[in-house]
Amino acid sequence: MRVHIQKGPQILELLKKKSVGLQHCKPTSSVCVLDSKDAAGSAPCAHSLDSIPGPTNWPLFGSLIELLRKGGLKRQHEALIHYHKKFGKIFQMKLGSFESVHIGAPCLLEALYRKEGNYPQRLEIKPWKAYRDMRDEAYGLLILEGKDWQRVRSAFQQKLMKPTEVIKLDGKINEVSADLIKRIGRAQVNGKIDDLYFELNKWSFETICYVLYDKRFGLLQDTISEEAMDFITAVKTMMSTFGLMMVTPVELHKTFNTKTWQDHTAAWDRIFSTAKLYIDKNLKRHSSGNSENFLCDIYHQSHLTKKELYAATTELQVGGVETTANSMLWVIFNLSRNPCAQAKLLKEIQDVVPAGETPRAEHIKNMPYLKACLKESMRVSPSVPFTSRTLDKDTVLGDYTLSKGTVLMINSQAIGSNEEYFDNSKQFRPERWLEEKSSINPSNSVSAGYYASMRSWPQIRSRWTRCIQELWFPVESFPWLSSADEILT
Ligand code: HEM
Repeated sequence: MRVHIQKGPQILELLKKKSVGLQHCKPTSSVCVLDSKDAAGSAPCAHSLDSIPGPTNWPLFGSLIELLRKGGLKRQHEALIHYHKKFGKIFQMKLGSFESVHIGAPCLLEALYRKEGNYPQRLEIKPWKAYRDMRDEAYGLLILEGKDWQRVRSAFQQKLMKPTEVIKLDGKINEVSADLIKRIGRAQVNGKIDDLYFELNKWSFETICYVLYDKRFGLLQDTISEEAMDFITAVKTMMSTFGLMMVTPVELHKTFNTKTWQDHTAAWDRIFSTAKLYIDKNLKRHSSGNSENFLCDIYHQSHLTKKELYAATTELQVGGVETTANSMLWVIFNLSRNPCAQAKLLKEIQDVVPAGETPRAEHIKNMPYLKACLKESMRVSPSVPFTSRTLDKDTVLGDYTLSKGTVLMINSQAIGSNEEYFDNSKQFRPERWLEEKSSINPSNSVSAGYYASMRSWPQIRSRWTRCIQELWFPVESFPWLSSADEILT
C-alpha cells in the first residue's frame, strides 16, 4: 500500500477539497427486536439451543463450505453481519467440529456481562498452551483462567489502565511517536510512503518493547539490527502459525512434528529468550528499587513468580502490536476520508496543547473529540470484529437457555454496523458519541461492547495524539480507497 502523507500546517487548503464520504447504502432492516426480557435476563419460556436458527449445517462440515463460498475466514466478519441480518440477534453456527452461538445485539451483550462471573472464560488458545506445557513455561493473561487470571491481571491492571500510572509512560510513548514522525518524513518519496502498515507495526512494537523492557530496539531507524528483525519476525511467525492449529488438533501437529508446529515453537523460543534477556537486565538495573520502572514495580509489588512475569509480559507484547497498528491504520484511513473530522480533531489538539509542547496524558483528558474519533473508527472498522466467551454456567439469553460450556461469539462489528443502533451506520461521524441525546451514551448497552474492548486506551490515545498533531493524511493518500469501500460494506 502506498500512502501519501503531508506535514499538517502546510496543507490546510486541502480542507477545501470535497470530501469523499463512505458510500451510503440504504439502511438495512434489522430483524433484531430489543425486548426488556433480554436485558433482565429471564425469559418466561426459554427455548433450548436446538431451536436457535443458523446457516446450513452439513454433516462433518457444518457451515464451513458456505462460509468458504462467502469469501473464507478472511471475510468472516461480513458473513457474520449477513447472518445476523438473516437470523436476527442470535444464531448458531458449526464450522467443522467447532460449534458456537453468535450474539449481535446490545441487550444480549448487556445481559451476558451482567451474568458473567468473576472469571470470564475466553476461547482456549491450545497451540500456545501446548508450547508452554512443553517448555514448562507459565501462562499469561491471554490464556490464563479463573483465580490465576485474576491474580495476574490485577498485578498488571494497576500499571496499564490506571490513568495516573499511564501518565508515567508519556515520555517513552512520545519519544517513539516522535521517531515515527521522523521516520515517515525520511521514508516518503515524492510525498508517498510504500508501506505505512509496516511502519505502524514497527512503531507499535517499538513502543511496547520500550515500555515493557525499557529497551529501544531501533525499529524506526533506517537500518534495523538483526536482533530486532529476528524478534519482530518471530512474533509474526508465531501469529501466522497458530491459526491452523486452532482448527486442526494441535496434538497431531505435535506428534507428527509438522512444519507448522516446528515454526511455531521455534518462534516462541526466540520470543521467550529475547523477552527473558531484557526482563532480567531490567530487573537487575532497577534492583535497588530507587527508580520507577514498569516491570520492576509490577514484579516487586505483586507476588508473581519470574516465570509468570515472563509469560505475562510476552503476551502483553503479542496482544498489543498488531491490534494497535491496525487500529491506527484505520483511524488514519477514516480521518483521511473525513477531512472535516480531521480538521476538528487537529483544532482540539491545538486548543488543548500549548504551541510547541508535546501532548501529555493530562491534555488528553480534555480531548473528547479525540476519544470520539477513536471509538467511531473502532465501530466502523474494528481491528477485532468479535470476541468470545465460554459459558461457565447454564445461562438464559433472550429467548434461549444456553448450557454451560457453550462458546459464545460476541459480534461487535455486527452491532456497530446495525442501523437499528447506529443511524447511517456506514458514516464516520464521531459526533454521535458526544451528542447528549445519543442512544449510545456510556451507561447504555450499545456502548457496553465497545468499552469492553477498550482496555488499553489511555496509552493508545496518547500515542495517536502526537501523530495527529504533526501529520496530515489527505484522502489522496489511499490509492486502495475504492477497494476499501468493499472492506467496509
Ligand atoms: C487499539 C488497540 C487494541 C485493541 C483493539 C485491543 C483489543 C482487545 C480485545 C478485543 C480483547 C479481548 C477482550 C475480551 O475478551 O473481553 C483484548 C484483550 C487483551 N489485550 Fe488488547 N487491544 C488493543 C491494545 C492492546 C495493547 C496495547 C495491549 C498491551 C499493552 C493489549 C493487551 C491485551 C491483553 C493482555 C488482553 C487480555 C486481557 C485480559 O485477559 O485481562 N491490548 N484486547
